[in-house]
Amino acid sequence: MAIAGTAGLLVLTAVLSARDGLRRMNEVETWRGSEAAQRFQSPGPESLPEEIFTTQRPSPPVVDLNAPGDAANGERIFFERASVMCSKCHVVHGRGGQVGPDLSRIGAEKSRAYLLESLLEPNRVIAEGYASLLVQTWDGALIFGVVREDGPQQIRLIDAEGVEHVIPVDDIEARRPGLSAMPADLTQNLTADEIRDLIEYLTTLR
Ligand code: HEC
Repeated sequence: MAIAGTAGLLVLTAVLSARDGLRRMNEVETWRGSEAAQRFQSPGPESLPEEIFTTQRPSPPVVDLNAPGDAANGERIFFERASVMCSKCHVVHGRGGQVGPDLSRIGAEKSRAYLLESLLEPNRVIAEGYASLLVQTWDGALIFGVVREDGPQQIRLIDAEGVEHVIPVDDIEARRPGLSAMPADLTQNLTADEIRDLIEYLTTLR
């Protein structure tokens, strides 16, 4: 029995260290996510699209939209979960950041399927008025952000940190349309249930 006990303990230890390993992997993923996000904001001129499209990502979680979600938990994730930071970029009823669209009425406007797609594949549909642009200036700076103004004299971009950049047109060497300013790998930090809870929360916004 003592041996079985020891073996049991060993198994338990193995399970715990596997869990610990998994948690670490998640941390590494989070770190990679932010590194990728940084590259996204200041990529080499030719490397951006290729890198984004060829990066190996695990297949998206399968989310059952027919099962009821927990809207209160979704709200907590939206405002408090540091690894996804929805509220850093989105306002809901006056709370949150201005990088992405105001989501205060998103539940009245969009279906669950659309919301799920917005989370899993932000690049498939870009919300109207939130196109992004990658600008290279003559002094070598690369600036990526959502377009707030695209005028004959200047361009105004708001980057993922919510910082506004005003770039005189004369300073611009090259420009090209970017992907969604909403990170494509956000949902890697969430379980399928958490994604469903977030969607449940978003559908309550009317
Ligand atoms: C770094 C900024 C950023 C973060 C973080 C972010 N978003 Fe976004 N989001 C955007 C931008 C910019 C758009 C508009 C471009 C697009 O449609 O992809 C957008 C679009 C959306 C849309 C579609 C809105 C519409 O009207 O079509 C939804 C829904 C959404 N985000 C939800 C979320 C949720 C939920 C989270 C957290 C899990 C989140 N976003 C995190 C920037 C962000």
